Amino acid sequence: AIATGADIELAKKSTIEGILKRGELRVGFESGYIPFEMTDKKGKFVGFDMDLAKEIAKAMGVKLKLINTAFDGVIPALNTGKFDMIISGMTITQERNLKVNFSDPYITVGQTILVAKKHEGIVTSYKNLNDPKYTVACRLGTTGEKAVRRYISKATIRSFETEAEGILEVINGNADAFVYDLPLCVVYMAQQGAEKLVFLDKPFTFEPLGIAINKGDPDFLNWLNNFMKQIKNDGRYDRMYNKWIKS
Ligand code: ARG
Repeated sequence: AIATGADIELAKKSTIEGILKRGELRVGFESGYIPFEMTDKKGKFVGFDMDLAKEIAKAMGVKLKLINTAFDGVIPALNTGKFDMIISGMTITQERNLKVNFSDPYITVGQTILVAKKHEGIVTSYKNLNDPKYTVACRLGTTGEKAVRRYISKATIRSFETEAEGILEVINGNADAFVYDLPLCVVYMAQQGAEKLVFLDKPFTFEPLGIAINKGDPDFLNWLNNFMKQIKNDGRYDRMYNKWIKS
């Protein structure tokens, strides 16, 4: 069907109308936040968030389009209509919440620390790292970076474009610690941690993760929150959680 002026006006106001008309849900995210979004050997995007996106598209009866976007540009891209929602392990922060609306959280995480093995028993908390003699690596544009700049501000801080680069610096002995969301640190610790890292796995921040949508669309927010409540109680959420996160 040809979209009329009235259709276009409605689609602008109502994300749901736009998605249904298009027959496609467009989800923005950034690959690399294991186990929520990552790229498998075949170049396919997989993870908890990707399964969540699939369930949403299925429930809306539309196709799914995944749009990989740099994390620090993902909110501006949503705001300019590049996609319908962000599912990117995004922490609901008051600062971001001024620019977007968030669904009810789908998991709560917090910042944890991977420390170079040589500091075992010496660095036992983020507080010990608050000294210029320590180099602390973090991921640009994330709440991890925010936490480092706020709570470990006296350390020598180095921000990286990807999570993997930040952790590699610690493994290679160029940084003393990497600060990031618990679930990613759990995975890296299991993969390459044993001999090289110590894991301070008690989160020192409180971070609920939610789906972000554009402001001014209560219909869509209502749909998403009811969807969330449904999957949390009918087994779908538990299946995803057990598949990707439970360790
Ligand atoms: N939870 C953290 C934040 O909101 C990290 C999210 C990073 N997500 C990603 N897809 N790289 O800042």
